[in-house]
Amino acid sequence: MPRAKKKRFHENKELPNILQDGDENFNELKGHWNTKHFKNDWPITVEMGCGKGEYTIGLAKVFKERNFIGVDIKGDRLWVGSKQAIDLKLEQVAFLRTLIHNIDGFFAPAEIDTLWITFPDPRPKDRDEKRRLTSPRFLNMYKGLLKPQGQVFFKTDNTGLFEYTLEVLKERTDIIDLEYTFDLYNSDYIDDHHGIKTNFEQKYLDLGEPIKYMKFRFKR
Ligand SMILES: C[S@@+](CC[C@H](N)C(=O)[O-])C[C@H]1O[C@@H](n2cnc3c(N)ncnc32)[C@H](O)[C@@H]1O
Repeated sequence: MPRAKKKRFHENKELPNILQDGDENFNELKGHWNTKHFKNDWPITVEMGCGKGEYTIGLAKVFKERNFIGVDIKGDRLWVGSKQAIDLKLEQVAFLRTLIHNIDGFFAPAEIDTLWITFPDPRPKDRDEKRRLTSPRFLNMYKGLLKPQGQVFFKTDNTGLFEYTLEVLKERTDIIDLEYTFDLYNSDYIDDHHGIKTNFEQKYLDLGEPIKYMKFRFKR
């Protein structure tokens, strides 16, 4: 492992806003984020596959009385977001290092108010369908963890993944308020994303790829 990455992994153990295996309260977070970690009663927004946490931090700058948790398995990326949140004194930001497959071990039913899925890996091969973050098994998990009327926001550069997600949603009977655009920056939804662009997003915009965007809720 490169030395810089090793250093980040080592530092992550001491960073108060990174929650990961080995931390004292790691297995007791489920249902207790606000009482044990944030020590407030603000609604919780979760970003799935947050990478370096650019979206999580961007949202935290916009919404003051709201808690934000970026989830990713890559510790070296989370280190970047963690350091930035600390520098910006964003105490309502935390990062959870886990596989999203295990997310229901970290949140109680209805603990999440809002969920963002930002530029997830498209996993285009048929055999990888189950690993797409918008596949039915992930959606079922999100539904269980979101409050009734909790909203899901999804941004991607990838047309295949976006169309796949629309198909999955349209086959379900529990989706309401679905709205979408294949070209966020030439649409009426331009204000929805609060002007936040991640590195991945900028990379694809620079290549001339329109950004696809949708939002929806689960019916209870
Ligand atoms: C293409 S990157 C996008 C990162 C970020 N959302 C952005 O827009 O810059 C996808 C991220 O999702 C994470 N990821 C993908 N599948 C995951 C999973 N099942 N569990 C945890 N993290 C996952 C990867 O580690 C990676 O950081």
